[in-house]
Amino acid sequence: MLVNTNEILKHAQQEKYAVAAFNVYNLETVQAAIRAAEQENQPVIIALGERYFPTVDVEGFSALVKALAEKSHVPVALHLDHAYEKESIIRAIRCGFTSVMFDGSAYDLTENIRRTKEIVEIAHMAGVSVEAEIGSLAKGEFSDEEEGDGTLTDPQSAKEFVDATGIDFLAAAIGTVHGLYKGEPNIDLQLLEEIQQAVDVPLVLHGGSGTPDAIVKQTIELGICKVNVNTEVSMAAVSYLQNCFEKKQMPHLSTVMAEMQHTMEPIMAKFVRLLANK
Ligand code: 13P
Repeated sequence: MLVNTNEILKHAQQEKYAVAAFNVYNLETVQAAIRAAEQENQPVIIALGERYFPTVDVEGFSALVKALAEKSHVPVALHLDHAYEKESIIRAIRCGFTSVMFDGSAYDLTENIRRTKEIVEIAHMAGVSVEAEIGSLAKGEFSDEEEGDGTLTDPQSAKEFVDATGIDFLAAAIGTVHGLYKGEPNIDLQLLEEIQQAVDVPLVLHGGSGTPDAIVKQTIELGICKVNVNTEVSMAAVSYLQNCFEKKQMPHLSTVMAEMQHTMEPIMAKFVRLLANK
């Protein structure tokens, strides 16, 4: 069933587990994410980034996700990931997305608050929850996200930001990167603890790929309720393709799509299991 992201994350916060938010781009990625969640009997968040709006028909895509969600026995939320434009957010709300992320992290705190507050007012009128970020993630290897400067979230600014904007979830920058880590991960759990003490909204960890399982578990203990995952899933599917090319195979596109879905499912299920924290 399709559910509000807030409902899923409030439950996760109470019960101390996290929900996987998988970045998707087409039918196969959506089906793989929902099937992985069904296998593990856990909720899942289907996340479409604003950066894919030029290639993905947002109206058609959201109708499809909502139909698949309604068929499913697990809670499914539909989230807009990293949106920079108000127009994209309004479009997603009109399409029935259950949450949106406004990424104003490139602005200074005052301007980020002003812009985020406006988005919260619009989204809340439609019953849609809002994620926002202060600080930003650096870009590791094989990621498709924007390059960030890696500024970590300051706990006092986080409190001011949450209080002033009324956001529902806060993306905390604690040293994870988008994509695979270029060296050893340097994740500041002490900082996460300080952020958790400063704010009471569910916290979001971007950059799930390549983050060691033990650290992910610790972040859940410290308030992370949603973990975004993109690169590892993409790499699994693309590795399948590379393998085909290396073997000089020319499978039919329908086979390629099906095989990529089968390759992604276990990677996604691994994340869902890890985050379930059982
Ligand atoms: P990864 O690509 O590192 O999994 O991060 C995804 C993400 O945070 C999307 O918002």
